[in-house]
Amino acid sequence: MARLLLVDDEIKLARMLADGLEIDGHQVTVTSRVREGLSRLAEQPFDVVVTDLRLPDGDGTEVLAAARQLGGGAPDVVIMTGYATTAGAVELMKAGASDFLIKPFSLEEFRLRIRRIAEKRALADRARQLERRLAEHEGAAAVVARSDHMRRVMEQLDQVAVTDATVLFLGESGTGKSLLARAVHERSARAARPLVEVHCGALPEALLESELFGHERGAFTGAHEARAGHLDAARGGTLFLDEIGEVSLPVQVKLLRFLQDQKYVRLGSTQVRTADVRVVAATNRDLAAAIKEGRFREDLFYRLSVFPIEVPPLRARPEDVPLLAGRFFERRGEDLGRLGPGVLEALCRYPWPGNVRELENVLQRLCIVAGARLIEASLLPAAITDARSAPRLGELLVPGFNFDAFERDLIHDAIAKAGGNKAQAARLLGITRRRLYSRLKALDERSEEGDED
Ligand SMILES: Nc1ncnc2c1ncn2[C@@H]1O[C@H](COP(=O)(O)OP(=O)(O)OP(=O)(O)O)[C@@H](O)[C@H]1O
Ligand SMILES: [Mg+2]
Repeated sequence: MARLLLVDDEIKLARMLADGLEIDGHQVTVTSRVREGLSRLAEQPFDVVVTDLRLPDGDGTEVLAAARQLGGGAPDVVIMTGYATTAGAVELMKAGASDFLIKPFSLEEFRLRIRRIAEKRALADRARQLERRLAEHEGAAAVVARSDHMRRVMEQLDQVAVTDATVLFLGESGTGKSLLARAVHERSARAARPLVEVHCGALPEALLESELFGHERGAFTGAHEARAGHLDAARGGTLFLDEIGEVSLPVQVKLLRFLQDQKYVRLGSTQVRTADVRVVAATNRDLAAAIKEGRFREDLFYRLSVFPIEVPPLRARPEDVPLLAGRFFERRGEDLGRLGPGVLEALCRYPWPGNVRELENVLQRLCIVAGARLIEASLLPAAITDARSAPRLGELLVPGFNFDAFERDLIHDAIAKAGGNKAQAARLLGITRRRLYSRLKALDERSEEGDED
């Protein structure tokens, strides 16, 4: 079954063709004007567009051009005309028409041509689906998640992937947000459709707007022809907005509108378009702070964070380090045996400010300097060798542990470190000065009372 748009002002002919197509199980929309055809194209997806060349309000080539601009899964276009010249036909094929019918033609001929196109599209769709499924397999296997932290992340991801909900990934740079955003698409029903990634921080404001929403000819200097945007290209699929925190306020307004009702307008146009696109976003910025500073719209934030997923920094999940390193070597056809004694332990202790990306970079550099030899601990950068494991407070919990003594010591250490300045000591402890005084008082009283209760 294909979705067809038929544009022809010969109502009787159009009706006959539509009936024939419907018998074949296709779904047909008939219009008799270029203008109407264009707005239908903007509103809903079609597999095939069949258009007459000479129409009362314009030319079928306008429909052809608009259809070709639709990007991801753009419909095939069949041109019908009573005034055929070979040169004209060649031009139309060059402009992207899939087929060409010279009037008069028989209904049988017409149905056959359409059937051929529909079959070809179904095949291409199927191939794309298989390709996606393969990629999904590889992609799913590519995400390392051994730690409880990451397992929880993957559980959330699997739950939300199959819905159409907007997902927002939050986390430090290099934690795997982009990788996970791709996994959402791959594990969704949209996997066979396009995934379009936009790096919002990489483009100047005006350009980002036209890249996202597209623009009409003459919308700005240098816009020599109309162009479809990423939203058009992502129809039926997913749009991944990376570094959403970098988007300017005016573009935020337009994104908000799109998230609310899937409607948008190209730069330089007034025509409202609709696209069925799922949005996934990511940022390493503190959006709450950006909202306070007036750089990010609160309403957009709420729209985006229907389903927020926090990706924890690597230092919070050192259990993942050996597996990530293993995966790294596996990709190079090697294994963890490349690492000499003590190296993996040091890698697990290091706090990885650049997260997984930094780990990969370090491993890569180690492979280069070690050549074919074993990667010895002596090759590690000093920062990594010197890293001491973060104190694990839980390790203090041995028989004889005394919480009051611990608190008193911590407070006294803070006061000493602050050179006796209590306000600064309170800041070091992350509490208010008032709370510090009240804790000191309580601890004093308790030491006088002894520990009776
Ligand atoms: N859980 C993981 N399993 C396997 N590889 C990972 C994992 N997390 C991250 N990586 C790898 O680490 C690198 C950095 O990940 P990614 O680009 O997704 O991070 P990011 O959070 O999007 O960073 P940025 O904020 O800088 O965009 C990539 O090569 C990615 O494949
Ligand atoms: Mg990224």
